[in-house]
Amino acid sequence: MAKITGYLSQGRRVAIRHVCRQDYDELTALARDSAEMLRRWLGARDNTVEAFESYLERFEQPTHVGFVICLRDTGAIVGGVNINNVLRGALQSGTLGYTSYASTTGRGYMTEGLGLVIRFAFGVLELHRLEANIQPDNTSSLNLVERLGFRREGYSVAFQYINGEWRDHERWAITAETARTAARPVNLPHRPAGEESESTRRR
Ligand SMILES: CC(C)(COP(=O)(O)OP(=O)(O)OC[C@H]1O[C@@H](n2cnc3c(N)ncnc32)[C@H](O)[C@@H]1OP(=O)(O)O)[C@@H](O)C(=O)NCCC(=O)NCCS
Repeated sequence: MAKITGYLSQGRRVAIRHVCRQDYDELTALARDSAEMLRRWLGARDNTVEAFESYLERFEQPTHVGFVICLRDTGAIVGGVNINNVLRGALQSGTLGYTSYASTTGRGYMTEGLGLVIRFAFGVLELHRLEANIQPDNTSSLNLVERLGFRREGYSVAFQYINGEWRDHERWAITAETARTAARPVNLPHRPAGEESESTRRR
């Protein structure tokens, strides 16, 4: 796999860069292998070149920014994050979308990578607020944002149409101020296989 450089920010194990046309084959293979996991929470996805092209076109607008999370040592993609619906002026806000993949989930890569995106958003992009809308039974996603310092702000009934139904979502948010005081995600300790995390014990 050719390593694409141009990282915007690097952590201990992962780095972030903008998604690009050359990512199509790798992202499509990851999405195909993860079809069941992604369909459950995001709905069915179209993996054609045309769909990827229109996905990339979105990021030509200043209202959308697309990132991939890569392993620092190989460059392999382990996750994706979008900042959607960026509003400037007095709001300076954006809405997050993110995914890991069946072969990359549960290793802390998203925690580290999304943490880098958040710092980039509040630093280089000069945003002030990031929101994430999460289905109440999407435990992995709720754990992820809570670990990164987001706060639960509300509950939106019938928020998004996914898999044939309008689904309720919890609304979580982090601001530039709260991010500064949130726990640093980049140096999460290694947890031996089989040992439960704090959030697993809480469930
Ligand atoms: C939501 C989603 C992105 C979360 O990703 P994730 O893989 O759980 O996130 P991480 O890579 O940071 O892994 C975190 C988990 O790995 C564990 N972990 C294992 N080894 C670890 C290590 N070395 N370092 C840190 N964490 C480690 C963490 O304890 C944590 O487990 P927990 O959730 O039980 O507490 C993922 O489940 C996903 O893509 N789902 C489908 C799409 C989706 O739902 N998107 C969001 C819509 S709102």
